Amino acid sequence: MDLESKLIMDFQKSVIKREPLQWSGRFSVGIKELDIQHLKLINLLNRLIQVSETNSIHSEIIKSILEEMTTYAQVHFKTEEKLMETYDFPQIREHKKRHLDFQVKTMDLYEELGKNTEQQAGVLYGFLTDWWTHHILQEDMAYKEFFIDKGLR
Ligand SMILES: [Fe+2]
Repeated sequence: MDLESKLIMDFQKSVIKREPLQWSGRFSVGIKELDIQHLKLINLLNRLIQVSETNSIHSEIIKSILEEMTTYAQVHFKTEEKLMETYDFPQIREHKKRHLDFQVKTMDLYEELGKNTEQQAGVLYGFLTDWWTHHILQEDMAYKEFFIDKGLR
């Protein structure tokens, strides 16, 4: 098994056991600003895991974490996309599409869950963790070498 698959499996185990996700240097995409943003997103996921087991999707705390994540994801996606535009990253279109998918899917899922008034926020947590871990560990890694070659750190 390659390192990337192992990291994803470790993350998935954490999700099943509902343990906080651990950041390590192996998650680094090589650019400090983006690593800091990813770390902040992982911290938001960890806050969500702390409260999602006992709170409904409608609880104020879940709503506020989700709102913070959605707002911050926009900032993060913009930072990445701006770098991609500046340096003419070849897979920019596919990558932007993934960012758009996130926004659409998150809203859909939230609305879907919201129809069931007692729905726990755990489903949402599972989806978000899965999405972010795949995105950071696979899709974002696709630009690591490219940006490093351009001299970015
Ligand atoms: Fe991305």
